[in-house]
Amino acid sequence: MKDPAVQIEQLREVLRHHEHLYYVLDAPEIADDQYDELMRRLQALETEHPELLTADSPTQRVGGKPREGFSKVMHSSPLLSLDNALNEAELRDFDRRVRELLGGAEYRYVTELKLDGLSMAAHYRDGQFTQAITRGDGTVGEDVTENARTIRSLPLRVKSSLPAFEVRGETVMSRRAFERLNAGREENGLSRFANPRNAAAGSLRLLEPQLTAERRLEYYTYFLLTEGHPAFDSHWRSLEELRHLGFKVDPHSRICRTIDEVFDLCNTWEGKREGLPHDIDGVVVKVDSVDQQRQLGFTAKAPRWAIAYKYPARQATTTVEAIEVQVGRTGALTPVACLQPVEVGGVTVSRATLHNEDEIERLGLQIGDQVVVERSGDVIPKVVRVSSQGSYRKAFRMPAECPVCGSKVVREAGEAASRCINANCPARLKESLLHFASRGVMNIDGLGDALVDQLVDRGIVRNVADLYDLKLEDLVSLERMGVKSAGNVIRNIDRSRLNPLPRVITALGIRFVGERTAIFLAEAFGSMDAIEHASLEELQLAEEVGPKVAEAVLQYFGEPGNRELVDRLRMAGLQFSYASTRPKAGPLQGKTLVITGTLPTLSRDEAKELIERAGGKVSGAVSRKTSFVVAGEDAGSKLEKARDLGICTLTEDELLALLAVD
Ligand code: IVH
Repeated sequence: MKDPAVQIEQLREVLRHHEHLYYVLDAPEIADDQYDELMRRLQALETEHPELLTADSPTQRVGGKPREGFSKVMHSSPLLSLDNALNEAELRDFDRRVRELLGGAEYRYVTELKLDGLSMAAHYRDGQFTQAITRGDGTVGEDVTENARTIRSLPLRVKSSLPAFEVRGETVMSRRAFERLNAGREENGLSRFANPRNAAAGSLRLLEPQLTAERRLEYYTYFLLTEGHPAFDSHWRSLEELRHLGFKVDPHSRICRTIDEVFDLCNTWEGKREGLPHDIDGVVVKVDSVDQQRQLGFTAKAPRWAIAYKYPARQATTTVEAIEVQVGRTGALTPVACLQPVEVGGVTVSRATLHNEDEIERLGLQIGDQVVVERSGDVIPKVVRVSSQGSYRKAFRMPAECPVCGSKVVREAGEAASRCINANCPARLKESLLHFASRGVMNIDGLGDALVDQLVDRGIVRNVADLYDLKLEDLVSLERMGVKSAGNVIRNIDRSRLNPLPRVITALGIRFVGERTAIFLAEAFGSMDAIEHASLEELQLAEEVGPKVAEAVLQYFGEPGNRELVDRLRMAGLQFSYASTRPKAGPLQGKTLVITGTLPTLSRDEAKELIERAGGKVSGAVSRKTSFVVAGEDAGSKLEKARDLGICTLTEDELLALLAVD
């Protein structure tokens, strides 16, 4: 057996290497689950040997506790701002000033894309990340160390010969991460972030690092400093060193020898900015030589050796001619502004999403108003603000009835979205069918957009259960459907009857119930009937099911139309019962235990394994759902809480007796 200290350090090195490949270079070499497995091994070893745990371990990114606020910290030297050049003439003026002030000496520029995020300084001592500070007012910022730790492209440990150094750079959120975050927020009735920059700012200042970790922030560096000053005499050299140390650096930064080259590059990126994963608002141009930077010096607020060439915002002004409403799978009604067509950054825009009623209210928007619309990246155009009110304006009202099926529309307290309550609404139906058939759900190959549209529009399919009554004749009469492909679809529908219960639960499209929750529900109840008849409290006995999910399940089965649908699916022969793959029988079946303190003979892992083998579950926190608390020496607050809640506590001996293990 290898020395655990050696084993742990080796695992950490391997994990750091793969984190660097994945998060900094975007070039992973192993699959996610292999990475997860390595991480689990390290976690297990560290749990077994807590004395070997260090703050720079890859397991320690999300260890921080929620905090009351952020303390203020002074920067080593001010984080200055940049002067802007808004056009070619201003860029050439900047170059002229540089040339004159340098008195004829040769000079070169480094260009970097101007990522639209928040600047942040990160400090390292003896190769270890020690502190992160936001820009704040430039002189004093906020200590966001615990949150910054969760940013995977920020190395917690580097191999540097410098005893202490500081990096500065931009914290950003990719457009993809931003869209995903907003989609989730909307689903949970929360307001959307206006753009990736605001989302990044909000995420970096969350009081719970756990939440920051879920936000997928990235950190791009552009300065390497020692004692507040550049570490090398060339800026380009600093960028190279940053890359070498394992930091993320804009891969598009370049050396330019003339201002013509700089201007060309600015133009090229203006055309290509949509294709980048992040929002940029310009190009930063810096004199490369640090000596020359010193010679050029600073004005009151910005260096004379750098400038930001800013792109014009991709905005335009137009009129809102109408507001239409679209219906999605969950029945959510989304208002969409119909615009007088207008060109924004080379694309004609005639529609822009307004998300929900609150957003319309926030904008103070009425039909007939002039608005500023903006396009950023491949994100759908959005209305930024009302620029002037129309002389004939009309307030928008969310229709009381669904524009597609005429059913009642409801908006529940605390929710941003209004929803059509009819599960059979054609608009919802199309989306529901696509969800039902999708990969990972019922997996019905061949049932795509075109076929679903025809089936619904012709009234052949009125709900997902109708799929199981389809005959070959129903399909062959449709457009682009030969006998062979029709036969395939019918066969695939037929085969989908074999999908196990968790997939059937997912297929119903109950709010908040995705693949994972469906498995937990199936595990806990064993059949669709049991889930259908479970109470709010009973539902919450399933793993990871809290009041929100339980309420959604209850509401779903409370709707007579849904119960009828589920009955028809049962008649169609879908799998309504479930033989769990987990060990079932055992003295602790269905019980949740919490272990606290040091047990006399068993290690935590051993105790956990014994409990799980007996069918029980081990949880980290004591709650009303806890069946027993196994307490050893030095048990602290968890034991107290168990006593408060009147939960039975066990000694190690008592646990072993329960398990009947000698
Ligand atoms: S250098 C003294 N480089 O732009 C020089 N800033 O408008 C200070 N930014 O506050 C900044 N990318 O948040 C620099 N490659 C880059 C940048 C960059 C984005 C941001 C930064 C700064 C703002 C200035």
